[in-house]
Amino acid sequence: MTHTAHTSTPINPVLAARWSPRAFDANATLSQGDLTAAFEAARWAPSANNWQPSRFIVGFRGDATYNTILESLAGWNGVWAPNASALVVAIVQTEVEPGTVNPYAQFDLGQAVSQFTIQAQTDGLYVHQMAGTDTEALQKAFNLPAGYAVFHTLAVGKIADPSVLPEELAAREVAPRVRHELKEIVRHGAFDES
Ligand SMILES: Cc1cc2nc3c(=O)[nH]c(=O)nc-3n(C[C@H](O)[C@H](O)[C@H](O)COP(=O)(O)O)c2cc1C
Repeated sequence: MTHTAHTSTPINPVLAARWSPRAFDANATLSQGDLTAAFEAARWAPSANNWQPSRFIVGFRGDATYNTILESLAGWNGVWAPNASALVVAIVQTEVEPGTVNPYAQFDLGQAVSQFTIQAQTDGLYVHQMAGTDTEALQKAFNLPAGYAVFHTLAVGKIADPSVLPEELAAREVAPRVRHELKEIVRHGAFDES
C-alpha cells in the first residue's frame, strides 16, 4: 500500500513516498549493515556549530536491545511496533559541555532523524517515529551519562498489508493523509496581513 503525498507541485519522489506506517512485515529482518547508510545520512546532517548532538542505539528483532526498547513503548505503539525489524532510540546530547546547554540540540536531532528517514526510505524501508516511549526507562536501561537524554524511538522495517493490524489501527492505516494548505504555512509578510 502507498500513501504518496498529494503535492501542489512535484517534489523529490522519495519525500512524496515517505509516510509513517504501522503495518510492518513481521518476517522481514534487518541487520546492522542494512542501516549503515541511514545512520551515515544522520551523521551528515547539519547542526548548530557542528556540535553534532545526535546519538542512536539500535536493536534488531530478537536481540536484547530490541526487547528493552519494545518494553518502553506506550499504548498502541506496543501493539504494532513489534513487527518492525529494528527499533532505534534517538538520543540527544543536551549539553555542549557540563553546565552549558545546547539550545539547538533537539532541533538538530530532528534534522538527523529526518535524514535517517529519507535515506531509509530510499533504501526501501519505512520509519515510524514514536514519542509514546518511556524515555526515563530507556535512559536508565542504557546507562546514559549526564548531559544526554532519550528523545524518542523509531520503528524501522518493511511495509506490510494493513490486515496485519487490529481493526482500529487498520482503519487509521488506510485513512487519507492530511496537511495544512501551503498558503497556511508560507506567508509573505506579517501574520496579520493576508
Ligand atoms: C516526534 C514525533 C513523535 C511521534 N510519535 C508517534 C507515536 O508515539 N505513535 C505513533 O503512532 N505515531 C507517532 N508519530 C507519527 C506521526 O503521528 C506522523 O508522522 C503524522 O501523523 C504524519 O503522518 P505521516 O508521517 O504518515 O505523514 C510521531 C511523529 C513524530 C515526528
